[in-house]
Amino acid sequence: RATDHVRIVEVGPRDGLQNEKKSIPVATKIELIERLAQTGLQTIEAGSFVAPKWVPQMASSAEILEHVLDTPPRSPRPITYQWLLPNARGLDNFLSTWQSRNTLGQDGYPTPPPSPGTDGGPALNTSSQDPNAMPSASSGAEAMDKERGSSKPNIEISIFTAATETFTQKNTNCSIAESLQRFEPIMARAKELDIPVRAYVSVALGCPFEGNVDPHKVARLAVSLLEMGAEEISIGDTTGTGTAPKTAELLKTLSAAGVENSDLAMHFHDTYGQALVNAVVALEHGIRTFDAAVAGLGGCPYSPGATGNVATEDLVHCFHSLGARTGVDMEMLARVGGWISEELGRENESRAGKAVLAQ
Ligand code: HMG
Ligand code: MG
Repeated sequence: RATDHVRIVEVGPRDGLQNEKKSIPVATKIELIERLAQTGLQTIEAGSFVAPKWVPQMASSAEILEHVLDTPPRSPRPITYQWLLPNARGLDNFLSTWQSRNTLGQDGYPTPPPSPGTDGGPALNTSSQDPNAMPSASSGAEAMDKERGSSKPNIEISIFTAATETFTQKNTNCSIAESLQRFEPIMARAKELDIPVRAYVSVALGCPFEGNVDPHKVARLAVSLLEMGAEEISIGDTTGTGTAPKTAELLKTLSAAGVENSDLAMHFHDTYGQALVNAVVALEHGIRTFDAAVAGLGGCPYSPGATGNVATEDLVHCFHSLGARTGVDMEMLARVGGWISEELGRENESRAGKAVLAQ
């Protein structure tokens, strides 16, 4: 039903900022995340553990993770922070920060012993997928959180591959099959540590190098990634060349291949101005998770000419008009979009955001 809750994954701090040429101070990145966390958004992709030679802007992601783990949350509900990584090296870098917070928990509180069957992963609350759920006070750490009136963030990781060989080579310097091989040890380790894994499939609606993409290829990859243990597949229209009919065809093909709508998120870039139309097609198909970037920030460094994601403000405005609930405060979100656009010295790409700010 259109009145359902729609979960928005705010990818602005990662997808939005990764392509900015001028180095952005880490304090600005952290402030962006903090401001977004106040708007009612519950899932924020906060950075990536990729090679800094390839994407220098994301080199400060460990500092951002430290901030997230060390700072008592100010929002009443736990926020889920996601971290993109391409290989075992990325996972190691992520884990060295994550595990450094293991012996002493946030604010110096000792974390309780690991639950049986794990090898000592920190006691972060990674269990709740329900956007409205509050953490239960069943474990020692959660009870301590309750006592001091805060809730720990949920931490998740994202892996990424693509539907064409050329894009996969350009983006991650390997074949599609090699990218899946790289994921095996990541999945195994994440499972041991009880860290949920999301997986992206890029260029699902068109490739800058190979053109049209066979939807069956996307579906086969989605099935493989789910079988490997991914909890959610984010289907990326990296180039923004997706259209309403192409989106409908892809979603039908995914359903026919046995991929449940609840296993999917749609990730539309807005290069041709079709992202909102495509999102509504996906909403009508039954998809309830969408990626978006505040102020329409961004672009992929390996997709020449592609612009940012659909603006979160535009998506929220559109979904609210259809009776869907997002939990997001549109005015607060619009202010964040205006602020970050000014900070970066770029045009605010959200039409709805600009309209709200002009009121
Ligand atoms: P490579 O050159 O094949 O890897 O890159 P390598 O193993 O030969 O390593 C090269 C150097 O990077 C070495 O350092 C490694 O140690 C280091 P050196 O010895 O030269 O000093 N290295 C790393 N450093 C930090 N973190 C790591 C890491 N791995 C190696 N994880 C690699 C392979 C995958 C690393 C590289 O291709 C890479 O980092 N690619 C990232 C590309 C990227 O971030 N793209 C943007 C994100 S995807 C996207 O935007 C699409 C999405 O939004 C969905 C959509 O819109 O479709 C998700
Ligand atoms: Mg993207």
